[in-house]
Parts: sequence; C-alpha cells; structure tokens
Amino acid sequence: MTTPAHRLVRGQLLHFLADPGMGDDPAAWQFFDDGGLWIRDGRIQAAGPWAALPPGVGESATVHDYRGHLVLPGFVDCHLHYPQAGVIASYGRQLLDWLNDYVFPAEARFADASEAERTAAFVVRRLLAHGTTTASVFATVHPHSVDAFFAAAEARGLRMLCGKVLMDRNCPADLRDTAAGGIADSLRLIERWHGRGRLRYSLTPRFAPTSSPEQLRLCGELLASQPGLHLQTHLAENPCELDWVRQLFPTRGSYLDVYQHYGLAGPRSLHAHCIHLDAAERRSLAAGGAAAAFCPGSNLFLGSGLFRLHPLKQAGVWVGLGTDVGAGTSFSMLQTLNEGYKVQQLQGEKLSAREGLYQATLGGAEALQLAGRIGSFQPGREADFVVLEWGATPLQQLRQSQARTLDDRLFALMMQGDDRNVVATYVNGEQAYRRP
Ligand code: GUN
Ligand code: ZN
Repeated sequence: MTTPAHRLVRGQLLHFLADPGMGDDPAAWQFFDDGGLWIRDGRIQAAGPWAALPPGVGESATVHDYRGHLVLPGFVDCHLHYPQAGVIASYGRQLLDWLNDYVFPAEARFADASEAERTAAFVVRRLLAHGTTTASVFATVHPHSVDAFFAAAEARGLRMLCGKVLMDRNCPADLRDTAAGGIADSLRLIERWHGRGRLRYSLTPRFAPTSSPEQLRLCGELLASQPGLHLQTHLAENPCELDWVRQLFPTRGSYLDVYQHYGLAGPRSLHAHCIHLDAAERRSLAAGGAAAAFCPGSNLFLGSGLFRLHPLKQAGVWVGLGTDVGAGTSFSMLQTLNEGYKVQQLQGEKLSAREGLYQATLGGAEALQLAGRIGSFQPGREADFVVLEWGATPLQQLRQSQARTLDDRLFALMMQGDDRNVVATYVNGEQAYRRP
C-alpha cells in the first residue's frame, strides 16, 4: 500500500513550546482556532492558521477535516505497567501488600508467553484508544514480556520505551532473576530492540527493595556503557517502602542516594512517584538530571501520598505525567489530569489546564529526553497526534456550552474527558485509531 506523502489536518490546534508553569505563560503555547497541520512523510512540516498554509500545498495532499475538534500532540504516558492491566482496581491495600496480593500473581502469569502477547496487543490498542502515542512501560521479569510489548508497538509504528523488570530478591521465587542473569537478559533485549525503528530500551530495576546491591551495581555499569539507554524505576512512593529501604541499605544516606550511588539517577533516568523527598533530595535529583513521573491516580488509589509538583519543578526536576496502570485506574491521561488537579488542590495548589496539557504532552517528552522528536507540532517532529471531541456526553456538552473562554473549555475537558472524547489517534501521520 502506498501512502500519500502530504497530509493536511484541519482543526483547533493546541501545542506547547515550553512549560507555561503556574503563571500560564502565554509565550509557552500556540492555539490556532482554525488551524492547519501540514505533514510530510510522517513528520510535521508546519503548524499554523489554516489560511496561512502555503498556496498549492493542498493540491497533492489528503485533507483530514476535524473542524470543531481539538487536535493535540499525542499523549506521553511516562509510567505504566502493561502486565497489570487486568488487576486495575484491586481492593483495599497499600503498596507493599498490594504488590504481594495482586501484582506479583498477575505478573507470574506472564511465564506463559501467550498471556504476554494477548495483554500487549490489548494494552497497545487501549493506549491508542486513549490518545496515548508514547509511553515508558514496565514489562515483567520474563524477557519474552518485552518481546511481546515491543512487537505490538512496532506493528503500529509507535515510539515506545520498555524494559524487563530486574528483581533478584524480596519477591516470589517464580519472579526472581539473578544479578548476572537479569543483566544478561537485558543485554540481549537491548541488542534486539534498542534503537530499532522508534523503540528504545529502558533498564528497569523494579525498585531498590527487590534488587540486591550487586544487581544495582551491574545495572549502573550497563547504563553507563551505552549512552542512549534509558532507566526507569520507583522512588519514595510509600512510607513503609522508605523504612524498608533504610533497613536494606543502612549505609546509604537516603533512598535517592541508593540510586545515585549506583549511577541510576542521571539524565534519561525516570523515577516514578518521588512523593516523599525533602528539599535537599529534590535539589539533588535535579542536579543529576533525572526525571520524576507524577502519577496522581496511583498516589490516591494506593493512598501513597501527594506528589509535590511545583516544589519538584521549581527545584529543576523534569516532570512527566504517568497513569501508573495498574495502581492507576485508567489509561486516560485526561482522567489522570483530573486526579492531578485534585492532588494539587489537597496541597493548596493548582494545576491549570495549560500546565496539565503541557505535562501530558511536551512535558512528558522532555522528561524522556525525546522533545526533539515528539510532544509538539514544531517542524520536524514526528506526526503523532490525537483528535478530541469537546463534549462526548450530554453532561460534557452542557458544560462546554456554558464555557466562555478557551481556558474554561480546556479545564472542563481535562476534568470530564476520557477515551469517549478521542475521535482519532494518528501515528507518524497515519490514522492508527478511529472511534467506532
Ligand atoms: N513499586 C514497586 N513496584 C511497583 C509497582 O508495580 N507499582 C507501583 N505503583 N509501585 C511499585
Ligand atoms: Zn509503577
């Protein structure tokens, strides 16, 4: 099948050039009410007012007319566990018990490669149906769980990061690797997948309690040996987890110091949660160049605590937004922003629609060090985008009909929206999902 080299998308375009911050800096975004996105060979050629597109460009192009709909860069979900899709909404436990009671049994079922393949295909479809085009994804300890996810992502041309969980202690025997074996498996997966098309490998020590010092040491060595590799883990999510880390690593000054000691907190390292960090740790995280994933749905669902978005950003930490499925209860980045707004409210702070939508798009790309490729409509970026309906239910339509400003409309969309609002999702300029 040949695909047209040129495509034009007409709709209400919104994208970010920088973090608008708490002050909603108007220089940080562009909105074109009757906008045009010119795509050439899967990349953004130009974005601006429809009337300002160069004359003649429409003649050889396929036009996708989404007038009246909002067109955003594809959402970037900075933290999720694809094998946990089936245990979303599991009752009544906090982090460590929840892992033992629900998560580890679900991940153990991935010993069966067909379970991994089925779930990977399911999750990739769900991500597209929610407008998410890039994610940083935990697999399980089984190497074939990474093969399954990357194969499903590659079949759709998606830009994705994934890694095999490293876990050589304090977990069920059927989910345990060894320090050397886990690294050897990771190395084989890196050779197979890292840099293949749009895929990138992310080394994935689950969290400090489930890796021996030796495994963390080898992981840091591997990370340092290949400049383009990513790393993802969890940091300072739950008070009992913090106590446990103190017992397991008595000579280290803090939880963050465990990762820093082994070289696991530099650029392209993404630490989920970072809830219980003091000011000195926030500064130290920033100085190393690592990023934090804000997972508000998970903060609330597991009762872990409240992410300190603005103190972390003010300290200079890169922040992306994550669903943290299955401790988060939805794949929707709009629903995740809804939870994020409430997490900020409980701390006497705000999350505006502008700042929220930045975090869900360009902010995530920056946290993953991929902003040169995705996250905005700047020329040369890969043409991943989502088309959203403003009002997908009678209540949403009523609310939208009473909104008087763009900010009010965006905020209502961020609070009320979910996958029902996703009209279509495009990957590399091609339609990859269309609402039935
Ligand atoms: N910490 C270690 N493993 C996990 C996990 O699977 N989910 C969450 N939310 N936190 C973790
Ligand atoms: Zn997680």
